[in-house]
Amino acid sequence: MENFTAYNPTKLHFGKDVTDNLGKTIEKFGKKVLLVYGGGSIKNNGIYDKMIRQLKSVDARVFEYHGIKPNPIFEDVDTAAKLGRDNNVDVILAVGGGSVIDSAKIISITIPVKHSSWDFYKGKAEPKSAIPLISVLTLAATGTEMNPFAVLQNNNTKEKLGWGHKLLFNKHSFLDPQFTFSVPRNQTAYGIVDLIAHCLEAYFGGGEATLSDRFVFSIINEAIEYGPKLLDDPKNYELRAKIMYAATAALNGLTFNGRKYGDWGVHSIGHELSLLYDIPHGASLSIAYPAWMKHFSNIIPERIIKLGKNVFNTNTTEKTISAFESFFKSLNCPILCQDAGITKDKKPEIIKNMAVNNVSGANLKMTEKDHIEIVELIF
Ligand code: NZQ
Ligand code: ZN
Repeated sequence: MENFTAYNPTKLHFGKDVTDNLGKTIEKFGKKVLLVYGGGSIKNNGIYDKMIRQLKSVDARVFEYHGIKPNPIFEDVDTAAKLGRDNNVDVILAVGGGSVIDSAKIISITIPVKHSSWDFYKGKAEPKSAIPLISVLTLAATGTEMNPFAVLQNNNTKEKLGWGHKLLFNKHSFLDPQFTFSVPRNQTAYGIVDLIAHCLEAYFGGGEATLSDRFVFSIINEAIEYGPKLLDDPKNYELRAKIMYAATAALNGLTFNGRKYGDWGVHSIGHELSLLYDIPHGASLSIAYPAWMKHFSNIIPERIIKLGKNVFNTNTTEKTISAFESFFKSLNCPILCQDAGITKDKKPEIIKNMAVNNVSGANLKMTEKDHIEIVELIF
């Protein structure tokens, strides 16, 4: 086992009606609130009205920034940060899925500075302070609610990058599974794929950490048992709660303790697909994971077999990979690019972008030859 430091200062509030006293928590940080949300789902499902009631109950002054896109872009972050800076806000309230919360994390460190948020991603600036961030999660998938990471996209330079910093932890995260009742079937399925993929990125990382491996198997087993049931019964509180907690546990540090690092090579492939063709994050992963496992199955056969044994009761690499494919298909997620509407003529463009962005894993490195072979496998 590798040495490790466990640090997670986010206070997580999980369960039915946990936002009923949200106003009181916000008030502790101040009265001027920057409310950040996405394209309007929170207006359709009533969550927006609930948030406004909470803010009014403590006489908060609210500045709103909405329109954060799925696969969020740094320009939105810069504009929202300017709004926060010009109005000297005390606290940020982010209400939405991973895209909104990731954006809010970067807004929180961009408000105190004068440069673009993208400079943090390119290593041109280091954050020194952050405006306190409180999140209300509405989609179970990314784990951003309890981790220090944020993913942003730059369409000009064709980059979608993940980045982490200890200032990006939410002060408080509120998770009410009822808030995910309205998540459409496809997004629910992508969330299930994403949480499984986070477990796999940990599992295929570096170093021996058997207890962390067991956490990985448990979380994946939870998703495999209850994910399909949830798709058939989307307003079932217990099922929503199980998947929501599984998604948080998959990327809050628990499965990484005792490893050198996670691999993250598949996420890096997935980010290329989302960047170039605007496909949802989870869909990019249900395509990339089986191909990546096939490609590296000769290098890590024991790891894949151990995974298969503990998750699907399979005993070969082929059967394990095919079980993952069948599971993703059963959720109606794409396992090939053409299932997501990406045509074969795009192969050269994908390979080129992978090279430009140095797509690779921390544990299993990828060369341009690997890119070419993996791209063959995703079609
Ligand atoms: O924008 P709105 O109108 O809110 O609609 C969203 C969006 O269209 C909708 N939605 C969210 N909650 C809903 C809902 N619709 C109905 N009812 C609700 N309760 O769902 C759509 C997708 O939302 P988005 O936030 O984009 O999804 P997700 O949570 O999967 O986040 C994806 C982003 O997170 C990044 C991804 O790369 C991607 O950019 N990730 C962040 C990570 C992290 N910070 O740790 C790790 C992940 O690996 C991932 O890379
Ligand atoms: Zn992910």
